[in-house]
Order: sequence, then structure tokens, then C-alpha cells
Amino acid sequence: MAKDPVRVLVTGAAGQIGYALVPMIARGVMLGADQALILHMLDIPPAAEALNGVKMELVDAAFPLLKGVVATTDVVEACTGVNIAVMVGGFPRKEGMERKDVMAKNVSIYKAQASALEQHAAPNCKVLVVANPANTNALILKEFAPSIPAKNITCLTRLDHNRALGQISERLNVQVFDVKNAIIWGNHSSTQYPDVNHATVLTPAGEKPVRELVTDDEWLNGGFITTVQQRGAAIIKARKLSSALSAASSACDHIRDWVLGTPEGTWVSMGVYSDGSYNVPAGLIYSFPVVCSGGEWSIVQGKAEHPRTRF
Ligand code: NAD
Ligand code: LMR
Repeated sequence: MAKDPVRVLVTGAAGQIGYALVPMIARGVMLGADQALILHMLDIPPAAEALNGVKMELVDAAFPLLKGVVATTDVVEACTGVNIAVMVGGFPRKEGMERKDVMAKNVSIYKAQASALEQHAAPNCKVLVVANPANTNALILKEFAPSIPAKNITCLTRLDHNRALGQISERLNVQVFDVKNAIIWGNHSSTQYPDVNHATVLTPAGEKPVRELVTDDEWLNGGFITTVQQRGAAIIKARKLSSALSAASSACDHIRDWVLGTPEGTWVSMGVYSDGSYNVPAGLIYSFPVVCSGGEWSIVQGKAEHPRTRF
């Protein structure tokens, strides 16, 4: 039998990530096949009709876990009672732009939505900011919603993490599921540092370090890093739209691991507030390696040093 429903908010739900994300959530990809849910979808008035169309499709898809849908342009109604908030609403960059170029437009959205979440979300609501610039928007949300515990406000760097695993799996021609423990340090931007110095691959002979299997240091220290850093731009160039299905899937991974826990021996990358670990200034929202258990994340220590790293 499914567990009592939790309320999951998706902002910007009429947009392209929203359209990929809400069916994943409704199917149980984010919270598990035994977790019933009520979806709250927020968008702005010009997108109200499209949002209603998404609601109609959710009804038509007859998802067994989906116990209700709230589709609204009212931020208070959207935030009321939510246990999980996935903040996708905002504007994506276009070809030739950096993510910081959408800062002026998107940051003001996060100021306004911070107070609605603070006042109306369920206690202990977990927040994932996806909209760019993701770290900055999360920081704004944290500053303008001071009563939400800082540990509950995170941003998405799992997409970059998954991109790093994908690059290694392609290079070695192995299953991506067998590659683990990459780290994305820093910002969800081209300044991030994708690090596979502690990553491993499960082989028939056991777990082997990526650094042992990929002997081409020039690629690991160069092409691999820039490919992951620039992957968002490469998708925009190819699709003329920014990534959507991979962003949606990675958002599900982020929340699933946060709520249900990371597998034994595995860490993932999350943008979380810094407690000063690795000398990152306290209070910044920064991507670290984390493990999750009992609905809490904690930063994995001691992973910056490696004899072949340029970190
Ligand atoms: P999109 O333009 O297709 O959809 C965004 C939606 O947000 C639109 O429906 C828009 O009407 C809505 N919106 C705008 N202002 C809003 C507000 N104040 N409240 C609620 N909704 C609002 O864009 P998209 O491709 O879905 O991307 C959404 C955001 O996610 C962008 O900022 C994009 O850059 C970012 N993104 C982040 C990652 C990541 O890994 N962190 C990955 C991909 C995209
Ligand atoms: C991504 O990494 O795909 C997103 O942040 C979208 C973008 O602007 O690159």
C-alpha cells in the first residue's frame, strides 16, 4: 500500500523542464514507487493555459500514485503545505550567454518566492533550486527565508555530476551505473571543477579507480573537465533550447537520494550551504560531495587531495 501523500511543488511547471519533470515525479521516480503524492504546479499568468494543459495530461495519464494536482498562478496557494519544493521557474539562457546573464531576471523571482515558502510550506520542507544561476538563486532564497533551516535549501549540481559519470562511461565503454563517486566542486557554471580523482568503476575484478583505468591524464585534466563544464552550452547549441530531460531526471536523483539516502559507499554532488569545509567560506551555496541518510545530507571530508589532481 502507498504511503500517505506528500505535497511536491514544481515552479515553472509549464516550461520544458516542468513538462519532463512532473510525469517522472507522478510515476514515483523521485520519491519511490510506494510514495503517494499531490503535485502543486506554479507558473505565471501568461502560462496559465499551458499549465492547465499539463494538468489535463496528468489526469489523462492516470498515474496511480498521484492523488491530486494543484495548478495555479498564485504563489501562496502553490506553496501551502508543500513538503518538497523544486524551484524551476525562471528564464533559461540562450546561445552565447553565461548562466549569470539571467541573474537579474531570476534572482528577483527567488526573493519573492522565499517568503511564500517560508510562510506557507510545511515545516522542514526540502527545497531544490534548479533555475539559473542555481547557486545564487538558492543563496537568495536562503537569505530571504531565514526561518527555513539553511540545510533545507539546496541547488542542483547533480546534472553536472551525472554528466561526469556519463563521460567516463563513454570513454571506458562501461555501464554508467558502474561508475560512481565523481565530485562537482563549486558553482553550477563554467567555473565548476568536475573531479574524478576519487571516482571508481565496478569491473569484473572489483572496484577500480578511474585514474587507473583512464591512463590519459591529458584528457582527464583537460578535455574531460571542459566537456562537463561546457555541456549545458553544447546542449543549447544543438537543441536551441537548454537541457530539460536530463535536468528533470537529475532533479529526481537529487531529491531521491536526499530523502531516501545514498547507497552505501557512494557519494553524490549537491549544492549545499558551506559550513567552512574545504576552506569554502561559510554560508555560500557550493557544490560538495555529500552522503545522505535519514533525510539529511553531510559533506564528505578529505577528498580534495590527490597526487594527480590540479585542484
Ligand atoms: P522554460 O522557459 O521552458 O520554463 C520556465 C518556466 O518558468 C516558464 O513556464 C515560465 O513561465 C516560468 N516562470 C517564469 N517566471 C516564473 C515565476 N516567477 N514563477 C513561476 N514560474 C515562472 O525554461 P526551462 O528550460 O524549463 O528552464 C528553467 C530554468 O532551469 C532555467 O533558469 C534554466 O536555465 C534552468 N536549468 C538549470 C539546470 C541545472 O542543472 N541547475 C539545468 C537546466 C536548466
Ligand atoms: C545546464 O547545465 O544544462 C543548464 O544549466 C542550462 C544551461 O544554461 O546550461
